Amino acid sequence: MDNVPLRVVIGVGGGIAAYKACHLVRYFKEAGHVVHVIPTHSALNFVGAATFEALSGNPVSTDVFDRVDEVQHVRLGQQADLIVIAPATADLLSRLATGRADDLLTSSCLVATCPVVVAPAMHTEMWEHPATQANVNTLRHRGTVVLEPAHGRLTGHDTGSGRLPDPEHIGSLALAVARCGRDIFPQSLKGKKVVISAGGTVEPLDPVRFLSNSSSGRQGFALADVAAQRGADVVIVKAHTEQLSLPSGARIIPVKSAVDLHNAMDEHAEDADIIIMAAAVADYRPTQVAASKMKKGMNDSALTRIDLTQNPDVLAGLVNRRRRGELKEGVIIVGFAAETGDAEHTPLEHGVDKLSRKGCDMLMCNAVGDGKVFGQDDNEGWILVSQPEDQPPLISEVNASAKIDVAIQIWDCVETLMFAE
Ligand code: CTP
Repeated sequence: MDNVPLRVVIGVGGGIAAYKACHLVRYFKEAGHVVHVIPTHSALNFVGAATFEALSGNPVSTDVFDRVDEVQHVRLGQQADLIVIAPATADLLSRLATGRADDLLTSSCLVATCPVVVAPAMHTEMWEHPATQANVNTLRHRGTVVLEPAHGRLTGHDTGSGRLPDPEHIGSLALAVARCGRDIFPQSLKGKKVVISAGGTVEPLDPVRFLSNSSSGRQGFALADVAAQRGADVVIVKAHTEQLSLPSGARIIPVKSAVDLHNAMDEHAEDADIIIMAAAVADYRPTQVAASKMKKGMNDSALTRIDLTQNPDVLAGLVNRRRRGELKEGVIIVGFAAETGDAEHTPLEHGVDKLSRKGCDMLMCNAVGDGKVFGQDDNEGWILVSQPEDQPPLISEVNASAKIDVAIQIWDCVETLMFAE
């Protein structure tokens, strides 16, 4: 669907984060969509209409009495395929929740039948105020997608929850809603702790060289994104990843090597309800790590031959800890498998074998190689769900789709498992 141009209305509320709406307009324009911007009157105190007109390539008005001959107060909302409001202030949330239609943005929302995605941004006290939370609940109950704000630096010297997520982040979540439906972010993981490892471990050889792999971390981050939007308390144990925007509200624990990742997972998994090992963990590390840079010609054998020591298998270790009763009761453990297949076995056969060897509850098996999956926006493969008493696993095929859409499918399976217990 990303290839089909959508008619996107971007609503902009009057907050300091209004400038980020310019990047959001760019995001949708660059993806080939048709964009109309509807700011509130107060948003124009932060960014001028001319900026939005230039970026969107369409005229901008705020008032229901502008261009009355075109019946603007209903036309834009009726024709839209997607409405994204960023930033939404506390006042705007309140007006949307009570069904006000006192400006062009709110009246457009009242006539819209398309998905409406709202990204709130305000000070923490305003976000946490019972009045704001009641408005958010009302909107969610009615099918409006209200994204969780990010945690971080706010306008003044304060830090907390209420920051507008990165525009690319809002854009990709909003497009996922347009593709997969407005019910993809229910608050179904509220009160659950989710620990996800993501990225590729880095195993040093000397202060400047290392062994690593080409994991981008995108699938792990997409899983964290969806979990955070479903209300979970998310911890990401992050090995090396591409430069990715951080999922709203997630706590990041940076690690480098497999041993670091092992220690961090062991610590954070203890009270987790769901553990997902999406990281590409090196199976071996150099036995010797030189304290200073290995110089060409000084000790050639150190550079032409690398002795390796096996790393711990983090996933299998977590499954063993669960067996010994050291993790929270009922914890669900999910693994990944990146398989190329070989002369004897298909990637799926390797995945089925890995699920039983590792002893986890679920495994996302990817067929990799030929430039597939690693570093790409799309993923494909199979979700394997372990069955009791040596029965073969349940297998669902995952067609090539955006990593955020794959994350939604994985979470739907996890939740089916969780609530079946
Ligand atoms: N994994 C892990 N610790 C390791 C290696 C892998 O926890 N030392 C986890 C990965 O995060 C993933 C799953 O195990 O969830 C499968 O990883 P993969 O690299 O595909 O498999 P391996 O365990 O390396 O097995 P094989 O070499 O047979 O492919």
